Amino acid sequence: MEEDFADTTMDACLIAAGQRAEHYEMAAYGTLVAWAKAMGHTEAATLLQRTLDEEKAADKKLSGLAEGGINQGAADAAHAEDEKEPVGAAAGSARKSPAKADRR
Ligand SMILES: [Fe+2]
Repeated sequence: MEEDFADTTMDACLIAAGQRAEHYEMAAYGTLVAWAKAMGHTEAATLLQRTLDEEKAADKKLSGLAEGGINQGAADAAHAEDEKEPVGAAAGSARKSPAKADRR
């Protein structure tokens, strides 16, 4: 990640990365719970379900952090950077942030 991102942008990126990991884990544990149930391993299914619930809780906490102001802070920081760019710098900034090209 770029070191010159605003702190809040770095936080938003770290949360996003954490949520990708949580979703991967949720998919894996969800599958394992289903397989354990299908095979009649009820004790294993119960333990795996507990872990799946923990993964879901972690994801929910991360969503709460992101939606509790960090994402907005990152968006505000990005807009503040847009306003600092000199006129005619649009071509250079488009290279840094392809998403800007989609804004109309
Ligand atoms: Fe996790």
